[in-house]
Amino acid sequence: MTSTTQTGPERAARKRVHVKNWGCQMNVYDGNRMIDVLAPLGYAPADDAENADLVILNTCHIREKATDKLFSELGRLRAAQNARSGSDRELMIAVAGCVAQAEGPEIQRRAPYVQMVFGPQTYHQLPEMIARVERSRGNVLNTDFPAETKFDQLPAPGAQGPAAFLSVQEGCDKFCTFCVVPYTRGAEYSRPPKAVLAEARQLAARGAKEITLLGQNVNAYHGSDGAETWSLARLLHGIAEIPGVARLRYTTSHPLEMTDDLVQAHAQLPQLMPFLHLPVQSGADAVLAAMNRRHTREDYLRAVNRLRDASPGLALSSDFIVGFPGETDKDFEDTLDLVRQVGFAQAYSFAYSARPGTPAEAMPRQLPQAEKEARLHMLQALLQEQQKKFNEGFTGRTIPVLFDRRGKEPGQLLGRTPWMQAAHATVPDTMFGQIADVTVTGATLSSLACRAAEDKRAA
Ligand code: SAH
Ligand code: SF4
Ligand code: F3S
Repeated sequence: MTSTTQTGPERAARKRVHVKNWGCQMNVYDGNRMIDVLAPLGYAPADDAENADLVILNTCHIREKATDKLFSELGRLRAAQNARSGSDRELMIAVAGCVAQAEGPEIQRRAPYVQMVFGPQTYHQLPEMIARVERSRGNVLNTDFPAETKFDQLPAPGAQGPAAFLSVQEGCDKFCTFCVVPYTRGAEYSRPPKAVLAEARQLAARGAKEITLLGQNVNAYHGSDGAETWSLARLLHGIAEIPGVARLRYTTSHPLEMTDDLVQAHAQLPQLMPFLHLPVQSGADAVLAAMNRRHTREDYLRAVNRLRDASPGLALSSDFIVGFPGETDKDFEDTLDLVRQVGFAQAYSFAYSARPGTPAEAMPRQLPQAEKEARLHMLQALLQEQQKKFNEGFTGRTIPVLFDRRGKEPGQLLGRTPWMQAAHATVPDTMFGQIADVTVTGATLSSLACRAAEDKRAA
């Protein structure tokens, strides 16, 4: 007979954690891994703060706007924490990620009700941190860069669904003058290939059909197996051999690290999807030099040509910063010109945002906000025109979509095309988690409307 008293795991299993991620995909990976770390403590994931005993805000420091988001979220959570104080459902609040790393003491000062503040390299220590808070009811600040890597301490990944992320590389040694990543994530580190292959096998066994390899500089990957150093290309070839992995992607890449073996992988590996995010930031050499990007406009265009020679249908995406200190009208024109020359399937563009402690923050000739925004507007209009045209070119075509989410409307499934477009279709739910051929019936800037392709055997 089983006991009906709620002790041990049964009681613990009632605890819930809500992780809210923003920023890059590496944060999404980290957020998923926090849930994996907390599972043995009896925490189940919760969809919202309302139903959670622990809320973790997994933050991004990349631009000022991303940072501002933290304090407005915290204000809301504090009200919930007060309302639940003294009840049997007290709320524990944690701040993780890159703002925690960069501004830990400031968060503790402004928001003393936050019990745990920890950076991207220490979340494997969550069980100890929670125990410390529960024992002492004091707060924890944990922003070390520990000598042991979190990757060696993390449990096997839980199910991530049909499209999974896998961090293979972390940190950055490039020190672009506008960027906080080298400070928040630390020095460049590549996981050993054996560990990556093992995690990829686990993901595939839990139903992942698509794996995206992640790193701030993913194509600088150089993991050692003890005897040899593996390039990203070699790693991709290795993962492509795992049964069940039908699609592979990697992000984010630096133009200077597009080595020949990686470019050739796009011709050799059918699993490698015909889409690449390759940030350029600016089309003007003077701006690229001031950014310490270490590549020229010509280097970038050459990388694009080599990729398109290897994979003629390759769709490209990029990141742009407009209004970098000293950017002239002509420099900005050069960026627009580069966009016209390359033709992007999609892109992210940002007004330059001065970040504390970065070299660009102290540069002369900072541009007025209005000028930055006017340029951003112009660039975005051009990029959106290209994106819309790219999507419209798919109308009437039959293409494979990996359906990995359920839509709001009944019977609707959402997914991605090989070229990374969002797609939606009303199809049988048995297609969830599958790669299915669908015919594109309409295209907008942001997505493709599809219907199940005619069954060819019936025709
Ligand atoms: N590792 C990637 C991306 C890092 S952050 C790379 O090398 O490109 C993602 C994007 O945020 C950057 O590509 C850049 O376009 C943007 N970004 C970074 N710092 C910024 C800043 N200070 N102001 C505006 N945009 C910024
Ligand atoms: Fe930041 Fe540059 Fe490193 Fe990218 S390459 S993470 S932009 S410093
Ligand atoms: Fe943001 Fe940190 Fe990623 S600053 S973009 S969450 S590495």
